[in-house]
Amino acid sequence: MKATMVSDIKKHYPVLLNELISIITPQHGGTFIDCTFGQGGYSKEILNYKNTKVIAFDRDIKSKKKADQFNKKFENRFLFKNKKFSELGNLKLKNEIINGIIFDLGYSYSQIKDPEKGLSFNSKGKLNMKMGINDFSAKEVINNLSSEELTKIFKFFGEEQEAKRIVKKILVERKKKEIDTPLLVEIIEKTKIKKNFRNHSATKIFQALRIFVNKEISELINGLIAASKILKKDGVLAVVTFHSLEDKIVKYFLKNLSENKSVSRYMPTPKINSIETLFKMPEKKPKKPSFKELNENLSSRSAKLRYAIKKKDTHNIVTDIQQKFKYLIDIEDYGKKL
Ligand SMILES: C[S@@+](CC[C@H](N)C(=O)[O-])C[C@H]1O[C@@H](n2cnc3c(N)ncnc32)[C@H](O)[C@@H]1O
Repeated sequence: MKATMVSDIKKHYPVLLNELISIITPQHGGTFIDCTFGQGGYSKEILNYKNTKVIAFDRDIKSKKKADQFNKKFENRFLFKNKKFSELGNLKLKNEIINGIIFDLGYSYSQIKDPEKGLSFNSKGKLNMKMGINDFSAKEVINNLSSEELTKIFKFFGEEQEAKRIVKKILVERKKKEIDTPLLVEIIEKTKIKKNFRNHSATKIFQALRIFVNKEISELINGLIAASKILKKDGVLAVVTFHSLEDKIVKYFLKNLSENKSVSRYMPTPKINSIETLFKMPEKKPKKPSFKELNENLSSRSAKLRYAIKKKDTHNIVTDIQQKFKYLIDIEDYGKKL
């Protein structure tokens, strides 16, 4: 979480930037897709190398201001799309060869600081948490979904062990008045028994709500599948994650498409045997921030960078990731009734 720009520093800080650049090697030129433009930390570093182009996505319209500056500075080497990265597949690429696709998940420093978005525990107003291009807000979730639905959201998206107890209290309080951010934080603080002095008591519930409101699970899964199709042979897919759920999905996806044997119980055996691996993963373990980076930006501590290199030109991706994480996608579907 807290991704590239974090709460304990007061500036834009692209996480694992040097590590990312050493993997995608823009010094050789090429076209890259930055799926999470944010404040342009990664895009800028790539565009500083000659003969590079960047196509950038961000669902937050507020990123457009920065993108407009990039358009002026880098002229026809930069293109911005205010779209969700799950729509990557609709990109008209003509004969463009894509050398690298990068994801820096989570939210930016400016988004945390934006009172309208209500991503911070200190936000004063309505529950929101919409990153951009959303169907509903956290206010509707907290004030309308059933006890069972809220419990599952908190348990599976936030790994909150005290989900049941917190939901019980939410249901009592929301009968009295609409729950806003300060009241939600108060409920969590008063209800939680196990306190963790490293993190705010509301961390897990806020993470769960943000994932649910922004449909981050299906976004990530669909984004990874679309990116894998678009990449050309030798192209690099690199993903920076900030919590264990994201990392679990990325790790499964890349590993599963990099190994000859499939661990899938969802696919018939003959098909499994015929799968030729799509990716190679030069490093099994994720890259993590150096001591120097941690010193400068402690909140990068949960960041993990995983990457894979595409081995062949194909649009045909055979993955069981949707079935594997169906239990999470089913929870996201509770949003359909809002
Ligand atoms: C951590 S920030 C990226 C920061 C960026 N790497 C930089 O250096 O400035 C994540 C950005 O991704 C955007 N984002 C998150 N999920 C998205 C999605 N599904 N589609 C498009 N943009 C998304 C957020 O709006 C946010 O601006």
